[in-house]
Amino acid sequence: MLQRCLDLLAPALRSPGSVVVDCTLGLGGHSEALLTQFPDTRLIALDRDKEALRLSGERLAPFGDRATLVHAVYDELPDVLARLGVPRVQGVLFDLGVSSMQLDEADRGFAYAQDAPLDMRMDQSTGIGAAEVLNTYPPGELVRILRMYGEEKQAKRIVSAVVREREKEPFTNSARLVELIRDALPQAAKRTGGNPAKRTFQALRIEVNGELSVLEKAIPAAVGALAVDGRIAVLSYQSLEDRLVKQVFAAGAAVTAPPGLPVVPEEYQPRLKLLTRGAELPTDEEVAQNRRAAPARLRGAQRIREDVR
Ligand SMILES: C[S@@+](CC[C@H](N)C(=O)[O-])C[C@H]1O[C@@H](n2cnc3c(N)ncnc32)[C@H](O)[C@@H]1O
Repeated sequence: MLQRCLDLLAPALRSPGSVVVDCTLGLGGHSEALLTQFPDTRLIALDRDKEALRLSGERLAPFGDRATLVHAVYDELPDVLARLGVPRVQGVLFDLGVSSMQLDEADRGFAYAQDAPLDMRMDQSTGIGAAEVLNTYPPGELVRILRMYGEEKQAKRIVSAVVREREKEPFTNSARLVELIRDALPQAAKRTGGNPAKRTFQALRIEVNGELSVLEKAIPAAVGALAVDGRIAVLSYQSLEDRLVKQVFAAGAAVTAPPGLPVVPEEYQPRLKLLTRGAELPTDEEVAQNRRAAPARLRGAQRIREDVR
């Protein structure tokens, strides 16, 4: 859905001096396409993963000082822009979740298909890894995380097994957790939904990286950073992320006046216009080319008014 993201942002990025922020640089594919397709635009790109910054730094080197790469969590966007002396931007892109590099590097512990240390931190220089979550959180908290972030119906069953096992020996590696989940689930639950460990791994990853709480702050901050006529595009890969984006966009696109006013005053007028009808999905062809794109949901919006409240 790369080209669709660029098309959504394009009308805001045609003028010289425009600035676009890629909040999820990863391996720099989207950033490279932005720099190539919009030759008058400056790029600021963030990632919390230092390895991603190193690799994409090499990839984007040919663009020289048109690209500024910053090690930051994306809810720090307002601080990053203030430090760079950029008050407003014309475009913002989020391509959420983990990168293929993070999934493919077995020792990062994101993938349930390979045995690896249970880490899952996108920024390995800070915070606690998945093993510590699993070994130290109270059972009730683990059940809540698996239910909420993994939409795992068998959360209680899995957590009971985890608690039994961790008392014998703390978890360190993914294979033991995968095996435990497989043994803990009833046959019927294993027949659908792919690898039975998938939902637990997703839940742990979201918890370890505080993904939803960061996103909850980051999307309003990004909308706030947009100049009038600036545009934002967000690609999500799971329903909780997409719901959050949908809520922020819908709130921005709503009239907030009390009902019954004959004329809606400026301060109650929407500050966003939605650019996508609902969430756009990948085409069958895109999914055939890249299986990981299957759950993608794309939403776009345009800033149409300053805040006057
Ligand atoms: C799906 S990948 C982006 C891929 C990228 N669009 C490309 O073309 O290669 C998501 C990236 O966002 C980063 N990321 C995820 N959450 C983040 C956050 N809260 N702050 C900063 N970076 C984040 C991850 O480290 C990962 O590198």
